[in-house]
Amino acid sequence: MEYKELVDIALEARKMAYVPYSHFKVGAALLTKNGKVYKGCNIENAAYSPVNCAERTAIFKAVSEGDKEFSAIAIVGGSEGDTVLSICPPCGVCRQVINEFVDADEFDVILGTNNPKDMKVFKLRELLPLGFGPKNLKVK
Ligand code: THU
Repeated sequence: MEYKELVDIALEARKMAYVPYSHFKVGAALLTKNGKVYKGCNIENAAYSPVNCAERTAIFKAVSEGDKEFSAIAIVGGSEGDTVLSICPPCGVCRQVINEFVDADEFDVILGTNNPKDMKVFKLRELLPLGFGPKNLKVK
C-alpha cells in the first residue's frame, strides 16, 4: 500500500476522535504485514488520565483481533477542524507500545498532514533509540 493512502485512512480515523477536553484530534492507520489496516482515534475521559491515544487504539484493536505483525503506522493530529496542517509525532507511551510488537529497525512511522508534501517517514528506532523491549527481559 502507498503510504499516502495510509495517511488518508488516518485522516478518516481522526474524524472519530472523542476529544471534549483537549479538542486535539488524532487519527492512526496501522498496516499489518498481511496488508490489513486497523484505524484508531484518541479517546479522552472526564478523569483525564485514562485517555487512549490514537496509535494505541489501533494497536489494541489489532492485537485483540489476533493481528500482531505490523509494518507501518500513519499518524495525523491537530486541533479540532477537518484540516491537519502540522505533523503530530507519537507520544513516548505510544512509541513504547508499538516497540513491543515490531522490529524497530524495520517498522515505519509515517507522519502526515492534509498536504502529501509534508509526509515524513521514520524508522521506529529513530524515534525510540535504545528502547526497552521484550528482548531486554531475556538478557542476564
Ligand atoms: N494524542 C494522541 O492520540 N497521540 C499522540 O501520540 C499524542 C497525543 C492525544 C492524547 C490527547 O487526547 C490529545 O492528543 C492531546 O494530548
